[in-house]
Amino acid sequence: MMTSYKSNKFTVGCRQLGISNGIILPVKIDFNKLPHLLLCGNSGSGKTYLLTYLLGQIAQKPVKLILADFKGIDFIEFNGCASYYKHSSVGEALDYVYNELQERMSNASVNSYYQPIYFCVDEWSGFLSSLSTKKEQDSYKQKLSNILMLGRGVQVFVIMALQRADANYITGRDNFGNAIGLGSLSKESISMLFNDDKELIQPKPRGKGYLRTDGKQLTEFVVPQLRDVANTKKVIKNALGEPKIYNKKEF
Ligand SMILES: Nc1ncnc2c1ncn2[C@@H]1O[C@H](COP(=O)(O)OP(=O)(O)OP(=O)(O)O)[C@@H](O)[C@H]1O
Ligand SMILES: [Mg+2]
Repeated sequence: MMTSYKSNKFTVGCRQLGISNGIILPVKIDFNKLPHLLLCGNSGSGKTYLLTYLLGQIAQKPVKLILADFKGIDFIEFNGCASYYKHSSVGEALDYVYNELQERMSNASVNSYYQPIYFCVDEWSGFLSSLSTKKEQDSYKQKLSNILMLGRGVQVFVIMALQRADANYITGRDNFGNAIGLGSLSKESISMLFNDDKELIQPKPRGKGYLRTDGKQLTEFVVPQLRDVANTKKVIKNALGEPKIYNKKEF
């Protein structure tokens, strides 16, 4: 049985229907229709908060969740979890997902069943900048690009947060079916994320922004306040698995 009809739909926030209309509608992204999410915004615009909201939803599904967190501060409670990678081990996480992709591709058959893999990266640009050689950077960028291009067919999805959408950090950004910009965006980020609707983008406060889902109208939306952050994190922690018995490489 193929899994592609299973739901990989998540809510990123809500929007108001019309200015004077009180009806609030959820704003959703559907990875089966359009895979991957690029999430940009300046420091403090609410990227990690939105990631937490999304991870809380993903964690409730029968998927494999992998969280790569370059800063290693906001998700400190996941320290030691099997699928939590921090600091320089973001690269290790990417290698793992890339190898899994290759394995799935080479063993693919008509009836293949794939458990969806969600690879979430917070502060991708920080990780790339931390690498000492351009060769290393290019190698990781190339792997990411392949995952973005080939992932959907074998149910491997990427959610990536970074402060600036910049060609130095991402090759093949067109392979992100969904893009979100939060807060006040730089000119470069606006061009990168929302080129066709550039003139519509206004500076927004923290937790507010725009979603571009390919082929659809730009949507303005608000990230809701999490009702119970501690509980959301508990659900995520559970999905990230038991602690590994060896220590991962850190700074
Ligand atoms: N939608 C929201 N509702 C309520 N609080 C929010 C919301 N979004 C963000 N915050 C709060 O604002 C602060 C900054 O958010 P967050 O850490 O997510 O920003 P960031 O974009 O990840 O910044 P950085 O790039 O520095 O990591 C946090 O204290 C967070 O709890
Ligand atoms: Mg953050």
